[in-house]
Amino acid sequence: MVQPSYEEVSNIHQNSFHWAETQKDGKTPSFSTRANDPYTYQAGFNNCLASEAIPGTLPQGQNSPRQVRFGLYAEQLTGSAFVAPRPNHKAAWVYRMRPAVSHKGFTDASELNRDYESCFLPLNPNVHVSPTQLAWLPFDIPTSGDTDFTQGLKTIAGAGDPSLREGLATHMFLCNKSMDRKAFVNLDGEMLIVPQQGRLDIQSEFGWLYVQPGEICVIPRGIRFSVNLPDGPTRGYILEIWGSSFELPELGPLGGFGLANARDFLFPSAYYEIDSSPNYEIVYKVGGKFFKSYQDHTPYDVVAWSGNYVPYKYDLTKFVNVGSISVDHIDPSIFCVLTAKSRDPTAPLADFLIFSPRWDVASNTYRPPYYHRNVASELMGLIYGDYGGRSDAFQPGGVSFETGMTPHGVAYEEFKAASDAPPPEMQISKGAIAFMFESCRAFTVAEYGWTSDKLHFHDHTMWDDLVNNFTSHLDEVKRLTNGNWEHGVNVARAN
Ligand code: FE2
Repeated sequence: MVQPSYEEVSNIHQNSFHWAETQKDGKTPSFSTRANDPYTYQAGFNNCLASEAIPGTLPQGQNSPRQVRFGLYAEQLTGSAFVAPRPNHKAAWVYRMRPAVSHKGFTDASELNRDYESCFLPLNPNVHVSPTQLAWLPFDIPTSGDTDFTQGLKTIAGAGDPSLREGLATHMFLCNKSMDRKAFVNLDGEMLIVPQQGRLDIQSEFGWLYVQPGEICVIPRGIRFSVNLPDGPTRGYILEIWGSSFELPELGPLGGFGLANARDFLFPSAYYEIDSSPNYEIVYKVGGKFFKSYQDHTPYDVVAWSGNYVPYKYDLTKFVNVGSISVDHIDPSIFCVLTAKSRDPTAPLADFLIFSPRWDVASNTYRPPYYHRNVASELMGLIYGDYGGRSDAFQPGGVSFETGMTPHGVAYEEFKAASDAPPPEMQISKGAIAFMFESCRAFTVAEYGWTSDKLHFHDHTMWDDLVNNFTSHLDEVKRLTNGNWEHGVNVARAN
């Protein structure tokens, strides 16, 4: 691993700032890996990859020979059923100094984190149902004491339960300390991690990922990883899914390319360390409960690996936005970066959407999001910049939420201004990236989110001045309806 020096860190800050500034100017960012990223990666979503920290380590022509080079152990990691269809089949082979089974047993670690929730069924007294819009001001990052990633997980809302292999959870992570000789492994599901403030230097069994605000990473179920914080206090969002895994959305009539392109997903290179000192701590999460286990060696002893069940990252500034170039906006499904299927073939378990810099040129089209009621639950966050058109004090590090079918839309002044404005030809979300965790499942709100002093209920009075424009046209209506102006011409009532 290459740890940046103090001078390099200050350059990195400038680089991150430059990245956001580039977007603010509306310029297209460089599509190369960010210059301050210290690691080398392999590319290509769902590719079967191979990596060796020592050339010649990977067995040739087979996965499990009687003897692996250097006396390494072969270990298989399977992320799907053995017989899953080929496009869904996920597996990897790792060649390591000791297999993961080498540990000292498990003990309860409930005290580690009391703000994590995984059972969102309303029979759980610790979750809450709300039909209204909810929002949270930016969550505070702890300034005193040591809080690492495992301790800093705070659940906001979700649906289902991991024991059902069906559902999802949304969390904040609020931490100020790197994980020192400590790893985390989530046996329940896959985690999509969205850093918002501070970079993440993530070590995994497959190698390192450097994830900066504006980038995301996905850690598949059952893979050990440690989160290091080069910038100290760090905040971000997590979408955790159970019984499914993230994939690229279908492109349909768009053709072969667009949205998040497969080649832009980056995977780590094999990296091992030699550490046989005692008491390396592994925190396990299973069934939403925390356990810990110690072992007398690092879990990061993989010298070579192959497969497609590997953590990855993606730079959101590479997202290829598409939109309408004639009339009417296309539904926001065009902003989908990653999706996860549910058992309902017509609706995803979870979508990860972003709202990033783009042009809007659709003529004679109402520009703001139309008033809407969706079957989806929508939980939004803001990574950086301004996201206009909201009345809920939406800020970077905050959250906004509507459960399925909750009506929402902009205030009347904005509706009026957009209705009266000339055809838009404008840049949207300059210097900003907002995102949405969207699901067909009805969310309940976890105790942490419900009792947070950052929570505020949406002010419904913002729509009190939505005037009834129709009644100011009654003379015309009477003329067109031959006097049946109260109900229109298709009156079919028995008198
Ligand atoms: Fe919405």
